[in-house]
Formats: sequence, C-alpha cells, structure tokens
Amino acid sequence: MLPLHLQPESHVPLYVQLRDQLRALVHSGELRSGDRIPASRELATQLGVHRTTVANAYAELESEGLIQGHVGRGTFICGVAVKQFTPPPRTNGNGGGMRWEALFADERGDEGLSRLMPDIPPDTIAFVTARPSDEFFPVEEFRRCCNAVLRNEGRRVLQLGSTDGYEPLKRVLIEMLRDEGLNVRGEQLLITDGCQQAIDLLCKAFLRPGDALALENPAYPGAIAIFAGARIRMLAVGVETDTKRNGHQGLDVEALESALMQNRVKLIFVTPDFHNPTGTTLPLSERRRLLEIAVRYQVPIVEDGIYARLRVRGNPVPSLKSLDRTGNVIQIDSFSKIAFPGLRVGWCIGPESAIERLRLVKQSTDLHTDQLAQATLAEFVRRGHLARHLARMKKVYRSRLEAMEEAFEKHMPEETTWTRPEGGMSIWVTLPAGLDAGELLIHVRERGVLFVPGRYFYLQNPQPNTLRLGFAGLDEKRIARGVQMLGDLLKVEFRKRQRGARGELHSRVALV
Ligand SMILES: Cc1ncc(COP(=O)(O)O)c(C=O)c1O
Repeated sequence: MLPLHLQPESHVPLYVQLRDQLRALVHSGELRSGDRIPASRELATQLGVHRTTVANAYAELESEGLIQGHVGRGTFICGVAVKQFTPPPRTNGNGGGMRWEALFADERGDEGLSRLMPDIPPDTIAFVTARPSDEFFPVEEFRRCCNAVLRNEGRRVLQLGSTDGYEPLKRVLIEMLRDEGLNVRGEQLLITDGCQQAIDLLCKAFLRPGDALALENPAYPGAIAIFAGARIRMLAVGVETDTKRNGHQGLDVEALESALMQNRVKLIFVTPDFHNPTGTTLPLSERRRLLEIAVRYQVPIVEDGIYARLRVRGNPVPSLKSLDRTGNVIQIDSFSKIAFPGLRVGWCIGPESAIERLRLVKQSTDLHTDQLAQATLAEFVRRGHLARHLARMKKVYRSRLEAMEEAFEKHMPEETTWTRPEGGMSIWVTLPAGLDAGELLIHVRERGVLFVPGRYFYLQNPQPNTLRLGFAGLDEKRIARGVQMLGDLLKVEFRKRQRGARGELHSRVALV
C-alpha cells in the first residue's frame, strides 16, 4: 500500500494533497518509472475519498507527464518529468510579487495541531487544552532560580553547549529518576525541546517513508502530524475506553499483536498513562503482555510518559521502561505537564546506541536545547520547587477532575458515557451513536463553551459522537457551568429524539 495520508481537515483540497504526495513519492524514488499505481477506484476506496478526488489528482500528474494511463493495463509512473523552464509571466495578479503558496513543499499534515492551540476568547469556558493551569505557576521562585543561574553560571549557560543536554540538568534528572526506581546513566539520557521534538527525532532517526508504525487510535495529534508528514504508514490500534466491555481499558494489545503479525512494523508508539485524548491507563497485566509481544516480534516500543506523574488517585502502575528487561523501550518525557510547557524542555531515555543516534539527529536539528531554561529547571528541581509545585497541582487537578465527574453525574443524559481517568488532563466522552460532537460544538460555542470533537484525534475511523474535555485549566465553578451547559443541550436533543423528531444535533453527514 502506498504511504498516503490525506488530511480531510486541511484547507488544501484532497486532490491537491494526493497529487503532491504522489509527486513526492516519485521524486524521492519510492515510485519509479514503470511502477503501476492503483486504479482510481481502488485508491479511492483505500483512502476513503470520492473517486473523482483520485481522478483529478491523476489528471494533473498526467498533464505534468509524471504518470500515464493505458486503457486495459492501468496507470504507470513515467519518471520525473523534465520540463523546459519558462519563467512565469511577471504580471501574475500579485503585482509581480512572489507567490509563496505555490512554492510550499507538499502538505505535511502540520495543520492538525493548530486546532489544539487555539486563541481562546476571554470568558470562554474552554475544555479545549490539556495544559497546566498557569495561575499556579510559582513565577517568583522561578525568577530566583533564574537569577541564581545567571549569577553563578551565566557565562557557561550563555555559551554554546552540548547536544545531549546541560550537565547539571542531566544530573538532577538522573537523581530524580533513581528516586522513582529507574537507574539511568548519562549516555542513556538526551535532553530535548519536549516530547514533540522527541517524537520528531525518533521519526527522523528510525523511520523512512513507507515504514509502518503502530499507534493508538485515537492518538495525540502532534504525533500524528509528525508521522503523516514523514509519510509513515500508521497502523491504527484501538483504545478500549469502556472498562465494562473488555475488563480493562487502554491500548487493545490483542489488536496490536495482529497488526504485528500482518505487517513489518518498525516501531510501536504508546502513551500508557492517562493517554491523550482518552485519559485511559493501561493496566499492569497488559503492559507485561505488550512488552512480551514487542520482544517476540522484535519491535521497539516508544513510551510517551508525559502524563505519568500526574496520577491523582488509584495505584501507580510501573512504566513500560521500568518493566523492560531487554532494552526494548525508549521513553520520552517532559516538563511540560508537570511544570512549564513554555520552556520547551523534555528528555528521552533509552539504550545508549539509540540515544547516540538521536543525539546526532538533534545536533543537526537545533544543536541543543535552550540552556538558560535547562539550568533554571535544574535549580528549580534542586531547591525542591518542582516536587512542591507538583504536589500542589495534583491536589488542584484532583479537585477539578472530581468536579467534572460530579457535574457529569448530575447533568449528562443517561446514554452518555465517559472515561474515569486517575490522573492526566483529559476525559473522553462518548455520546449516544448518531449524535455528532461537531454539531454540539456549534451550539455550545454560542453559549461560550469550547471543547475538541473527538474526530481530530483519529488516524482512522473517526467516531463523530466522541469528544475530549480537558479539565486542568478550569476551576470547579467554570467546570460545573460548562458541563451543565453541555448536558442541558444534550438533554434537549434526547427529548427530541424520544419524540421521534430528527434533532438538530443528529448527524447529518459523515464527518470525514
Ligand atoms: C501525549 C503527548 N505527547 C507529547 C506532547 C507534547 O509535549 P511537549 O510539550 O513536551 O512537547 C503532548 C502535548 O500535549 C501530549 O499530550
């Protein structure tokens, strides 16, 4: 199957995305002269798009001389078309200025994230983000740490540093991890600009276009954007959100095993603790099974541990990294959720050879992570501020999570279900089949409430009746008001449905 990933949400028409991606496959040498490409009907079915979308893309590529259709035999790659260069006319309707849009490289799936980083109008009850609550940031303590760093090690910090990270921060992290039961050596640790960069580095270091990667479905859109942009074949593995159905929640390990059986998978990417967006946590028995399967099929696991320290109730579950006996796991982590996402500092631990490769990729990406941020965080941890801040925030988040649940019990119509996370920052809500969260959003937005419809998190099979509610950034009062507003609207809709009327929120069209 060709590594093609179309972004239905993008402003770029689907046929243009397809045309550009096919063209890129030819230019990268993945499709060669004489290769047969699928018939338009077949490719349309594979991609879940209308046949004319494929036909339009093929027509443009044919006019460029890149492909050619032969009646009865199929469509074939003709090779890279060499066209004589003719400068475009100076009057291009743009006053002769450069048309930058025409020069953009093909669509890299980079738009998916913008939806999660929206400008939020003031006074909105925004369940949109999974970010820490900045009203509790200990800015004064941080300022003192920063001043101390500039006073004591200012020159060193402001000079160019080493790619693997600022030594004092590495030492502090190694100690912190040891206290948590994980023994890591300096060579097994790389400081990054956060998990987002770690995913990008991993992608560059281990994956080529067309390689297969197993990933939860739904998943964190920042990861999807990176893999889609790199033309990685993402294999969607379901996430169980209803404990009653399967006895446990989180990644469907059985489905993962069949994906590994049927495909040559290069990497497994999972978020076992308080998964974004569902809030689910993979139980210990399933973690053991996952590790065992990964070893059996010889596929490394990337564990995204970004929410793991945000457990507010229930018993901690050991990380995949701490259970790993074979050096099969790379764990990525970050200060973004436990402290300050604006600093862009995270880390990555794994076997030395893998970390060394990632270090080289990072070197050519940004030389190293901001050293003032690294040094100040090291001081912040050393002085005990991180531990105190985290303990405080966990109390805050627990109270907010409980406020969500209380409001759900009170206001949500009976047929609605939601996950019961023991930490993290988001709850996943499933509306009765037939209701569309996108439509619901239109109605609640008018009343000043925002959330993200679940479809933005899916790599396949988007479920229009799902939504993610982030609870960390809202106080209990706003949570109560926002959930009540959602619940009231849904109840109105239910009553309409019960009367047999076709309600406003009833899904009119399949969303993707
Ligand atoms: C699961 C997951 N991984 C990675 C990231 C990116 O984190 P960072 O700020 O460390 O780059 C996020 C951010 O929301 C996330 O939810």
